[in-house]
Amino acid sequence: MIRNMKNIAIFASGGGSNARKIIEHFEKSDLGRVALVVSNKKDAGVLDIAHAHQIPTHLIGRADFYESKKILSILDEHRIDLIVLAGFLWLVPTYLIGAYPKRIVNIHPALLPLFGGKGMYGAHVHTAVKAAGAKESGITIHFANEHYDAGDIIFQTTCALTEEDTPETIARKVLALEHEHFPKVVEGLLQGW
Ligand code: GRF
Repeated sequence: MIRNMKNIAIFASGGGSNARKIIEHFEKSDLGRVALVVSNKKDAGVLDIAHAHQIPTHLIGRADFYESKKILSILDEHRIDLIVLAGFLWLVPTYLIGAYPKRIVNIHPALLPLFGGKGMYGAHVHTAVKAAGAKESGITIHFANEHYDAGDIIFQTTCALTEEDTPETIARKVLALEHEHFPKVVEGLLQGW
């Protein structure tokens, strides 16, 4: 049976190591493919990764994203079924949440609801985890809503921490979990459709 391939758009602001893992995962899948990469940073490494994989890219500005809703026509043009936020630092506007109900997923490098919310990204997260003396950290994959890091949780997994851990070693442990699980969780969502 020829399944209708689902089209994934990845939104990212940074280096894109998670985007790369997802792109590579779906190059071997008959369920879905990464059809578009969107960024808000013209020099983001994720755009180079997209180009290397011949994936179309789109750069958004604040006015576009929060006022003109132009992104909706871009997503339609690429027949996007699922939006994956992989290190996307802007808040998702309500109109986009409404246009893609339970179709926007985000990954957060901590165990929400702990260590989440505005300003909690990248090293800030792992520094806070270390400062709190947490015995574990981990990842949370959740449906995005109009608040930072607050939508329904889809998947969480943990890694143990020791006194010797630093924010840098915590970041490494967490990123390894992201790379291992994010592609599979996204595939699991597509299987459910
Ligand atoms: C990851 O730590 C992810 O949890 C967070 O942003 C970071 C993206 O890293 N949302 P990369 O650009 O995928 O390497």
